[in-house]
Amino acid sequence: MKTPAEESFLRTFHAEHPAATSRSLSRGRDATGRSSYQLLSDLVAGRRRVLDLGCGDGVLLEEVAAGTPVGDRELSGVDLSPDDLALARRRPALAGATLLEARAQDLPFPDDHFDACVSHMALMLMNDVDRVAAELARVLAPGGLLALALGGGPAGGEAYELFIALTRPVVDAAPASDRIPRMGDPRTRERAGLDAILTPAGFAPVTWDTVRIDLSGPLDDVWVSLSTLYDLGLLPAAAIDALRETFTAGAASLALPDGTIPCAMNMRIATTSLAGT
Ligand SMILES: C[S@@+](CC[C@H](N)C(=O)[O-])C[C@H]1O[C@@H](n2cnc3c(N)ncnc32)[C@H](O)[C@@H]1O
Repeated sequence: MKTPAEESFLRTFHAEHPAATSRSLSRGRDATGRSSYQLLSDLVAGRRRVLDLGCGDGVLLEEVAAGTPVGDRELSGVDLSPDDLALARRRPALAGATLLEARAQDLPFPDDHFDACVSHMALMLMNDVDRVAAELARVLAPGGLLALALGGGPAGGEAYELFIALTRPVVDAAPASDRIPRMGDPRTRERAGLDAILTPAGFAPVTWDTVRIDLSGPLDDVWVSLSTLYDLGLLPAAAIDALRETFTAGAASLALPDGTIPCAMNMRIATTSLAGT
């Protein structure tokens, strides 16, 4: 099979930007002070055999490992990126985990192998997502839980809106070779669309919550959070430097008295379970 363009892009991006997503999002907090990784980990507390779909550098699996201890817990993760998987393998907490380079569309696990699957900011990037749903239904045991975090755009924290306003015209005007490939299935952005993907595979209708993740902080941290969300991934370095300068100038007017730049994104937390007991 010819590798889809978005998968080649993701592999290259994560090779060039190790741990990009965890660097971008792990300092984010909801209104109760939990990170989005902790929110997903909380949802699978008590489940013994857990898969992380698109596990990246393993930050979510590490949260799951640190969560409620469950006897003989078996943790597994798959990802396209050998570079991020190498980082996951270096985490002492994941010494016993199964971490495999694999496509979500072809999971290297037997039927009924997991009690739960978590996936943080990954499903919405995947092509042929109906096949991913069928694979999840195959590897989850009856009654298995699926807990997803999906991107939901800016949440009124101002710096994310500024970032989009500055970057979109630059990306739109860039030659095709400097623009990232189209990724994912737009149905994953809406509750009804996600149900249309998951229910034919055997999942119940999802519960769907919007959680505001606060990414406010020093300018450098906010820039890292926003600039590693893929959109700038193929722009030349000079164009990124120029965007950083205009962002820095614009963000100065947003700064709170202590210098903090307000920034927030919405995340959709969707949960469902596979039919059966
Ligand atoms: C935004 S990153 C999230 C990584 C990690 N879950 C986190 O939040 O830190 C998306 C991840 O999904 C992986 N991914 C995307 N499509 C995939 C697919 N079809 N099969 C396996 N992994 C995939 C990418 O390689 C990337 O590591």
